[in-house]
Amino acid sequence: AKSPVRIAVTGAAGQIAYALVFRIASGALLGPDQPVILHLLDLPQMQGALGGVMMELEDCAFPLLAGMVATDDPKVAFKDIDIGFLVGARPRGKGMERKDLLGANAEIFTVQGRALNEVAKRSARVLVVGNPANTNAYIAMKSAPDLSPDCFSAMIRLDHNRAASMLAAKAGVNVGDVGKLIVWGNHSPTMYPDYRFAEAGGRKLAEAINDEAWNRDVFIPTVGKRGAAVIEARGASSAASAANAAIDQVRDWVVGSDGRWVSMAIPSDGSYGIPEGIMFGVPVTTQGGVVTRVPNLAIDAFAQSRLDITLNELKEEREAIAHLLA
Ligand code: NAI
Repeated sequence: AKSPVRIAVTGAAGQIAYALVFRIASGALLGPDQPVILHLLDLPQMQGALGGVMMELEDCAFPLLAGMVATDDPKVAFKDIDIGFLVGARPRGKGMERKDLLGANAEIFTVQGRALNEVAKRSARVLVVGNPANTNAYIAMKSAPDLSPDCFSAMIRLDHNRAASMLAAKAGVNVGDVGKLIVWGNHSPTMYPDYRFAEAGGRKLAEAINDEAWNRDVFIPTVGKRGAAVIEARGASSAASAANAAIDQVRDWVVGSDGRWVSMAIPSDGSYGIPEGIMFGVPVTTQGGVVTRVPNLAIDAFAQSRLDITLNELKEEREAIAHLLA
């Protein structure tokens, strides 16, 4: 039998984790023959609720669940982990400004980055879901100088999946057939969902749809505001679809995307005019844990203007927390 893989989930008593940990333990992440040990991190006052989640995990009798650790200490949570889902974050409180939100999260992700640096496996793959996800991932990466920057990514897959579904509905194709779709930039309403290269069944979707006004006035803003629309409808933020996207992104990362393009926010190598190190959603293919950017795509004037908007937001976020990294 395979030896178990250690997987940390932070914010483990929260609602995304409630949709995530059961799927990890069922084999949805790493397949039906890979045992897992869950390392569950949440705040001290959430340990009681976390105990309840663990009771339910036991009650599922998952054959692949080889163990569980519950803790409020990041150094315990990240000890020897292969995979980390950094979901827990400080939500925006009443009257809290963006700057304060960035600062509060910078503190959390500095501490967690340092803990990862100290105790995680050197090959660990760490996905940051907690918002502001790209900048939190940047902070964790910068706080873990002994880990390769390639160990870190931020979740842009929910936006990618939202865009794929909307595109498939518009073009009248199966969402599973949509390829070469990209979401660029920040996981925020400034992201740029880009279907200029997208295809399904050998057909170019941009040609099939052939409606630039729909792209600009409907598609891009609707994808950008989808999170808010779910909150409005459900009275709670997207949790199941966020957990699903986290599974998709990490599965593709560690298992491989089989030649398919997927969007991941990864530290920039300077290509596409994005300054090095910024966590930016780009199209990638993945194989054997290695992520490769899709290079040299044409960027027309409209695409460039969208890239600039989301890049400027990320630069501002980086500047707002720079003093905390010194
Ligand atoms: P939630 O509020 O239900 O759960 C968050 C959990 O994190 C709570 O149990 C809380 O106690 C815990 N937590 C807070 N600070 C922590 C710390 N320092 N260490 C460990 N645990 C900590 O929130 P939910 O719905 O699960 O969302 C979690 C995060 O994911 C939020 O920041 C949300 O904005 C973000 N999100 C990101 C998406 C993306 O596409 N990147 C999509 C949807 C949500």
